[in-house]
Amino acid sequence: MLRFEHVTKRFGALNAINDVTFDVEPGLITAIIGPNGAGKSTLVNMAAGSYSVTSGRILLDDIELQRLPKYRIAHAGLSRTYQNIRLFDGMSVLQNLEVVLVPPHIGTLIADSFGLASRAAAEERRARCHAVLQRLGLAPYAQRLAGSLAYGQQKLVELARAIVAEPRVLLLDEPAAGLNHGETEELKKHILELRTPGMAMVLIEHDMKLIMSISDRIIVMNRGAVLAKGTPAQIRANPEVQEAYLGHPGATDDIEAAARGRQNRVRLREGEGITWHQP
Ligand SMILES: Nc1ncnc2c1ncn2[C@@H]1O[C@H](COP(=O)(O)OP(=O)(O)O)[C@@H](O)[C@H]1O
Ligand SMILES: [Mg+2]
Repeated sequence: MLRFEHVTKRFGALNAINDVTFDVEPGLITAIIGPNGAGKSTLVNMAAGSYSVTSGRILLDDIELQRLPKYRIAHAGLSRTYQNIRLFDGMSVLQNLEVVLVPPHIGTLIADSFGLASRAAAEERRARCHAVLQRLGLAPYAQRLAGSLAYGQQKLVELARAIVAEPRVLLLDEPAAGLNHGETEELKKHILELRTPGMAMVLIEHDMKLIMSISDRIIVMNRGAVLAKGTPAQIRANPEVQEAYLGHPGATDDIEAAARGRQNRVRLREGEGITWHQP
């Protein structure tokens, strides 16, 4: 469904992504893991059209995404969340979702006052947004300003915004970063409930416990290249991955243990908790 094909990304002299090829299948949760700077967000940014692709192709079915501008990629059915929250703080939670659904050529105000047909369409959009908020337990916050919500709730609003257009590919860049244990469990529940046969989900995370418990496939990135790919069991047993994480066998267990504490997880996120042994 989503295919990275010999994708390379250079930032000046830096080879951030080097000849990466992998497939993401519909109906599955594919996790991308690896240390900070491995190139995980760069993959998402290229797929979503935020970064250009130096060479190679990113295919959504037969559509070459690397040729398209951002809005057409979204229109083709790819949606993403950001590692750092990007909501419209001064708009309500509901409006943050509604803007995703407003046709690009027509502003909300015009659409709302343009006559019965567009008013009906606006009503329908609002109902869809409400349904998504309901689904993620955010209905009570629909009228609150997004910027006034707690961090964990804002992360959920980002997720709500990403799914409101019913994407075929959903890319989640560190959705659990900074969440406490309870919030992470809730997020996990939502992610599992979102899994449908027609949609491919890509999950970038450092929380190994979360990764191991909900992923169907795992891709391990290191220094801009794919180090390993497989099922959670295969990745757990892969000596190369064990070596790369902390440089000794059994290391993924250590990371899972470390990820249990919020403080540790934040440290992991900042790259202080993982010392990658660079082969
Ligand atoms: N806009 C950019 N300009 C220059 N270098 C960048 C940019 N975005 C990412 N990089 C570099 O590319 C590499 C991969 O970064 P990133 O994809 O953010 O890693 P990850 O998400 O795995 O932590 C890093 O060395 C990072 O500094
Ligand atoms: Mg990143």
